[in-house]
Amino acid sequence: MSTVEAYARFAAREVRGVSPTYERLAVAVAGDVEVLARLGTLPPAKRQPNLLFGVVRLLGGPVEDPVAFHDFVVATWPAIEAEMRVRATQTNEAGRCAVLLPVLASLPQPLALLEVGASAGLCLYPDRYGYRYGDHLLDGAPVLDCVLDGAAPPQRRPEVVWRAGLDLNPLDVTDPADVAWLDALIWPEHAHRRDRLRAAAAVAATDAPLLVRGDLVDDLPALAAQAPPDATLVVFHTSVLYQVPKPRRDEFVEVVRGLAGHWIANEAPDVLTHDGLPAPPGDAHHNVLALDGTPLAWTRGHGQAITWFGPPLRLDPDAVRRTTPS
Ligand SMILES: C[S@@+](CC[C@H](N)C(=O)[O-])C[C@H]1O[C@@H](n2cnc3c(N)ncnc32)[C@H](O)[C@@H]1O
Repeated sequence: MSTVEAYARFAAREVRGVSPTYERLAVAVAGDVEVLARLGTLPPAKRQPNLLFGVVRLLGGPVEDPVAFHDFVVATWPAIEAEMRVRATQTNEAGRCAVLLPVLASLPQPLALLEVGASAGLCLYPDRYGYRYGDHLLDGAPVLDCVLDGAAPPQRRPEVVWRAGLDLNPLDVTDPADVAWLDALIWPEHAHRRDRLRAAAAVAATDAPLLVRGDLVDDLPALAAQAPPDATLVVFHTSVLYQVPKPRRDEFVEVVRGLAGHWIANEAPDVLTHDGLPAPPGDAHHNVLALDGTPLAWTRGHGQAITWFGPPLRLDPDAVRRTTPS
């Protein structure tokens, strides 16, 4: 995909109706030869809208007005380029736990969670957050809102006895510079997500996860081997594989399928493909939630909606027995 197409697609599929500011900006960049020429000096993987816009926000540049944005990018390009070359989009969205929860709650408890592409690890606390699916509420904080269609809402949060993350560049929620980058990656109008970042970071700061610097193919087996054997190992990832070249994605799938336990994927359908998917619920960008390679639902990018199309998930009877006080 060309850079023009990438910005046009981002405008039409990812931010339309979700971030008018970025929709305006992405449309403007798609037609801005000066900004496109500068982006063209970067490796293809570094030209993406979220990275450019996040870096401009990190450097205090304007994103509301496309003309002011253009002037800032042209005037400040050396600093922007330097940041874009060393950074990657590492948006860490705790809200995605709301789409993982129906699956996590259905597995034999307790769980040993291993997230690949964990960023700062904020998706490793599905047992601590609260959830609101319509009028169905599960206690905890911060509360993650999710519209759930086609399935009954989960009745419980999972029991997590071990949590670990693997990332090429783990971020630290107790480091103000890392939190500033996570904040800059949140789309301008999304004050609720900024509040959620702060609240989820506070949860992670009081019970730091094991975050390991490493690659999701090369270093997964060794980290998985550290999980307690009496818990169900769950390897999961959300919005990660688009950053991984196709041959490495295939290798990852082979590695993860070779592990004991379960595998939950929440990835775009052109990144991790599945046979026989139904049509998505609309034109907006959707991920596919899958358990052990079986697709179950369409999900929105920040965990705000699930459209279930797979078989209903049943609670494992052993899990109920083990988590019910005797
Ligand atoms: C967009 S973030 C998503 C973070 C988190 N999964 C979430 O949904 O909030 C993608 C993360 O994947 C990591 N990543 C990309 N390629 C990786 C690889 N080969 N091995 C491990 N982590 C990787 C990046 O560093 C980044 O932190």
